[in-house]
Amino acid sequence: MTQNYTQDINLAILPGDGIGSEVMAEVRKVISWLESNHALSFTLHEDDIGGTAYDRYGEPLADSTLEKCKASDAVIMGSVGGPQWDNVDYNKRPEAGLLRLRKEMELFANLRPAIVFDALIDASTLKPEIVKGLDILIVRELTGGVYFGEPRGIEDLGNGQRRGVNTQVYETYEIDRIGRVAFDLAKKRRNKVTSCEKANVMESGKLWREEITKLHAAEFNDVELEHMYADNCAMQLLRNPSQFDVIVTDNLFGDILSDEAAMLTGSLGMLPSASLGETGKPGVYEPVHGSAPDIAGQGKANPLATILSFAMALRYSLNLRSEADEIEFAVQDVLKSGGRTPDIIAEGCQQISTSQMGDALINALDQRFKKVA
Ligand code: IPM
Ligand code: MG
Repeated sequence: MTQNYTQDINLAILPGDGIGSEVMAEVRKVISWLESNHALSFTLHEDDIGGTAYDRYGEPLADSTLEKCKASDAVIMGSVGGPQWDNVDYNKRPEAGLLRLRKEMELFANLRPAIVFDALIDASTLKPEIVKGLDILIVRELTGGVYFGEPRGIEDLGNGQRRGVNTQVYETYEIDRIGRVAFDLAKKRRNKVTSCEKANVMESGKLWREEITKLHAAEFNDVELEHMYADNCAMQLLRNPSQFDVIVTDNLFGDILSDEAAMLTGSLGMLPSASLGETGKPGVYEPVHGSAPDIAGQGKANPLATILSFAMALRYSLNLRSEADEIEFAVQDVLKSGGRTPDIIAEGCQQISTSQMGDALINALDQRFKKVA
């Protein structure tokens, strides 16, 4: 009998809403390329999330979909949301499906790299000398804080007034485990962590600062640690972004600061993310950009953020680092070759469609890494 070293990988594929299915089609090309050029075989379990899931199941994330995700090696997601679901009940909105996925899969660590590719430096609204070579990693706490805290709700006060309540709450273990992720990642990078909160006005922020300080002293005093108020961080990101290496912060500040950091790069269509839980459990990988309903179905979307998210899945969930490197190198090659989707178009470049971008990437992979039979 011949030995078979082929590794079988189970992926849950959730294209979601808007441009999700178009960009996911390009990820499929990369998956096929890997199957032809490496001893890998992928089984894809496709399902719905967000508005498309609501239309099909009456829920933005069906239980059966969640089970598929939990049973997979990694989940590759497109995006959720769109105006056609604006009037759907709050807890059935497309976003609620994504939040449930994060919570139920215990994905407490959201990694959002903001990298300025040399070929795209002019895409940033900031001066090239401010953003050149930028490489920041935002580590956002993803299953706690004001997104999930109780009590929450809208209450009728009976006198013509209403009251809206959300609760910002963190416990030691939540701060500890996200801090650990940030310090560990910093060690593999430039060895610096900036921890952001509002310890000057919020008790939960004071606790955050104290727990991060304790963790640092106990286990990571070889990593440089700096504390910064979140508003100051927002300002410093624009003033001098290259002072940052890893930024660790809570769910809400992380939501805001990661959008800001993303725009430093000028190209939301390029940015991947990973949401991770305990080691060994499947992660969810999705682009930072939204579902972009305004351009859905027109072949204008940039598939590279989702393809780079897939590369993060190879790196963080599937332990296929050299395959992840190959994809990331090929993305750099594609950017240099001058074919661009509308979001990153520049003078002297040729505008190409979503699927042409996918083809260009496959071509770049072939040029550099095709297995010679
Ligand atoms: C994000 C998004 C989500 C969030 C929405 C879609 C629920 O903005 O992933 O940053 O607020 O976390
Ligand atoms: Mg956001």
